[in-house]
Amino acid sequence: AAVRFIEEQWASVEDHGPPEVSEVLRYFMRDQGQADNTEASEVTAATQGKRGGRQRKGGSRRDDRDAATIKAEFEELRQKKAYTDILAARKRLPAFAAQGTFLDMLDKNRCVIVVGETGCGKTTQLPQFVLDSLILAGHGSEASIIVTQPRRLSALGVAARVSTERLEDGSVGYAIRGESKQSNRTKLLFCTTGVVLRRLGSGDKLQNVTHVIVDEVHERSVDGDLLLLELKTLLQQNKRLKIILMSATINHEIFIKYFNNAPLLTIPGFTHPVEDRYLEEYLPSLSYRPSGKGVKRPSEKEMDSLRSQASSSDESLLLTLHAISKSDRVDIELIHALVKHIIDSRANPGGVLIFLPGVQEIHACLNALKSIPNAKVFPLHANLSSDEQRAVFAPTSGWKIIAATNVAETSITIDDVVYVIDSGKVKETQYDPENGLTKLEEQWVTRAAARQRRGRAGRTKPGVCYKLYTRRQESNMQHFPIPEIKRVALESVALSVKVTHDDVKGFLSRAIDPPTMSALDHALFVLNELGAISPEGDLTPMGQHLAMLPMEPRLGKMLVLGAIFQCLGPVLTAASIMSSKPLFVSPMDKREEASRARAKFATGNSDILTDVNAYEECASLREKGASRVRAFCEENFISMSTLRDITSLRQEFLSTLTSLNLVPWGSTPSSPALNTHSAHTGLVKAVLLGGLWPRVARVVLPKDAVKFDRVQAGTVQRANEAREYKFFDVRAGAAGGRVFLHPSSVLFRAAEWRSPFVAYFQKQQTTKLWLRDATEVPVYALLLFGGPVTVNHVGGGLTIGTKDAFVKLKAWPRIGVLVNQLRRLLDVQLK
Ligand code: CDP
Ligand code: MG
Repeated sequence: AAVRFIEEQWASVEDHGPPEVSEVLRYFMRDQGQADNTEASEVTAATQGKRGGRQRKGGSRRDDRDAATIKAEFEELRQKKAYTDILAARKRLPAFAAQGTFLDMLDKNRCVIVVGETGCGKTTQLPQFVLDSLILAGHGSEASIIVTQPRRLSALGVAARVSTERLEDGSVGYAIRGESKQSNRTKLLFCTTGVVLRRLGSGDKLQNVTHVIVDEVHERSVDGDLLLLELKTLLQQNKRLKIILMSATINHEIFIKYFNNAPLLTIPGFTHPVEDRYLEEYLPSLSYRPSGKGVKRPSEKEMDSLRSQASSSDESLLLTLHAISKSDRVDIELIHALVKHIIDSRANPGGVLIFLPGVQEIHACLNALKSIPNAKVFPLHANLSSDEQRAVFAPTSGWKIIAATNVAETSITIDDVVYVIDSGKVKETQYDPENGLTKLEEQWVTRAAARQRRGRAGRTKPGVCYKLYTRRQESNMQHFPIPEIKRVALESVALSVKVTHDDVKGFLSRAIDPPTMSALDHALFVLNELGAISPEGDLTPMGQHLAMLPMEPRLGKMLVLGAIFQCLGPVLTAASIMSSKPLFVSPMDKREEASRARAKFATGNSDILTDVNAYEECASLREKGASRVRAFCEENFISMSTLRDITSLRQEFLSTLTSLNLVPWGSTPSSPALNTHSAHTGLVKAVLLGGLWPRVARVVLPKDAVKFDRVQAGTVQRANEAREYKFFDVRAGAAGGRVFLHPSSVLFRAAEWRSPFVAYFQKQQTTKLWLRDATEVPVYALLLFGGPVTVNHVGGGLTIGTKDAFVKLKAWPRIGVLVNQLRRLLDVQLK
């Protein structure tokens, strides 16, 4: 019926409506003509996937054995030599000594908190204690223990380890997004926090679960905090459920309080003493002296302070110290010198664990260290395959050097580490209020994290921790990490809560660290503008999809629309560019040159699409070799590291869409099926606008120019007039909403303007309110994706948008009715 309605309306609009609207309607008609087209059925598959998950909930398929059989089989297992061999090693873990106390506490309480040094056996042992005691007490058939891990890597790793300890008896399974291994015999399920949250989100009250063990609660991730909030509520509803929180010894009092004085079990560590060596202390014994190029020479006062820190007057040493502490990059050469120093001065080989902020630094480090004789270098980070991860644990003769991110801080233990090198840096999510996005950024670690890193050196014998920072720098570090919920855009948080809890504010007000209510109000408002929540406050079909996507709703919406409208390739790239540092660098002394270089890629009257274009050129050179790409980048002022970031983000976004069945399995960003309409620039812009709205400015021409409202296709405005154009934010603010196109925008070179609207991603207030980037967007893009449309019959016009963000268009009211119908169709597709 909807299609029929559109057909009828279409007939009357085709010859009369503005050309842009006809264009999109034609596009829509073409797609609607093919009944049950592929993208619609893929979207349905995604929703069915969700429902499928719901049917599987709670492992309602019971174990085929009765409690007595399970117990007998376990008794048998315990007699096996392989089992007792491993058990002997397990018994040496400090957790083992606490088994009796732990089970006793759990017996008497519904919530127990366990803290202990990393490596004491919390993760691998405690879940087994719970399971073993249930089996032996004759409750084996109903035992169902969920253990959550903050990362996929640790969920897989720990599940494998525990399964080995139980001789692969089938009692251990895992579930991470897009991958799971479990059966009706699974009793210990290791999953990521997100998996459990989604399970709760689908209405599962964990009726069949006996225990939930939440690991690494000290990390204070958003997911972790939300899970604790859910469990706190669930404890009231599900009278059988027991929960156990496990934490490193960081700020654990907060959890005791949160769970109404829950009992605490402290497992004593067995760490050996670790010596601290600060930069100023070991630097004199290294031969390494970096140039310190680009670092300002210290003032006399700073020199004095350096002298007192290093208790030395050696000028070259002091300058080196200064250069290293002022640099915002991890000094890989310093690490190389340090590793050589360690190896040269110790006769007995041991393990060296290097903490680095990210994968890029890990690769640089592996490269620099591979020439060291009698040493083997391993990477360790969250994106490794299980095989690569296992390699780290294998014994090596000679020196074992591991370059790791913070995954090695608390969740993964490598026993033979004797030396730790701590860069003091970590990549963490940071909220950027400027563009409302969360980004990964390099930070100093907290003192709590530095202490954890240091502790990794004393596992099997006394160790040493070399810090790539000074004692003074350490004293300036923050003590404890700020909970992630305080560092991310609340839109994502509010959206994920909305799925399960209608009263988002009421629910979140009970979190350990509740966000401020005014910030939440704003987040809900933004979600409303994005069409994720209806004006009545209900989750829309689009909102349902966005809640499943781990990225910001703005980017998520572009990607979902890009998938539906089959123009995903450029949209993936654009979303990745928006999440990265600028692709084009603009050195102070070469601004003009840099700007000319970027202008060569200018396309579609769009800064973002210009960058997409440049990215694609670089990508197409890749098969000709890395040196070609490098030369091209240098010549064109393109940042190689941003290029790499974009490539990996694109892949990451795509695999998320794949795991949600929004695109077919095995797709690449350039798969033809995803790119049927990628050459349709207007459509790509419309999709981008879907995420950007209401970041839109109206363009007002100089007086003598033709009014845009009446612009017919093909009318050309000269490029140099751009400077005379005035831009007004559709969300009128101070100074009447006047904004200015940033001088770096390629729109200054626009050859023709075809629309009176630009969408932007970033706005920045300095001397003026600048639009950092702009994309000219067709009117129909606003009609389709720019907030709700109200048809103004009296004035014969249309109003697009909500509350204070709106655009009035003089157009035929009938188009408004039609557009609303089209939007409803899109909703139907999303359902
Ligand atoms: O959770 P917690 O840090 O307290 O310790 P754990 O992860 O249970 O690790 C206890 C011990 O199990 C470690 O010292 C490792 O030696 C060993 N383990 C292992 O060999 N392989 C794994 N994948 C995990 C742990
Ligand atoms: Mg652990």
